[in-house]
Amino acid sequence: MKIAIGNDHTGVEMKNAIVEYLEDNGYEVINIGTDTPESVDYPDYGFKVGELVVNKTADLGIVICGTGVGISIAANKVKGIRAALCNETTVAKLVREHNNANVLALGARLLANHKALWIVQEFLDTQFDAGRHAKRVTKLDNY
Ligand code: RB5
Repeated sequence: MKIAIGNDHTGVEMKNAIVEYLEDNGYEVINIGTDTPESVDYPDYGFKVGELVVNKTADLGIVICGTGVGISIAANKVKGIRAALCNETTVAKLVREHNNANVLALGARLLANHKALWIVQEFLDTQFDAGRHAKRVTKLDNY
């Protein structure tokens, strides 16, 4: 499975921990940066990860900023993206099952790295339930 990952300057350390974890576990990672502490604008990274998922270069995306909010808003501007901010593994499971979320957003200033890894694994391990959820997700995509 191929995962696109992008972040602003607040998320470099968390991103590095996630990339190492994913590569150690057999995932292919497309890291679009940023990779330095120099201040950047989170929308640029959210848009880019969203585009990589929508054009199927990646299967799923992960975006990180200080709260996870700004970069999730950015990713959600890309048509076809359903980015979900998750601070708990339960949420990560539900956003895959119910919303078919295709981008996971994380807040680097709010989460410890080890907890972020649990959330990432839950997100990647969980499949869309389809069924009654499918028509709702189609409504999102058609808007
Ligand atoms: C950067 O200071 C911060 O605003 C950004 O990382 C993010 O939290 C925005 O939503």
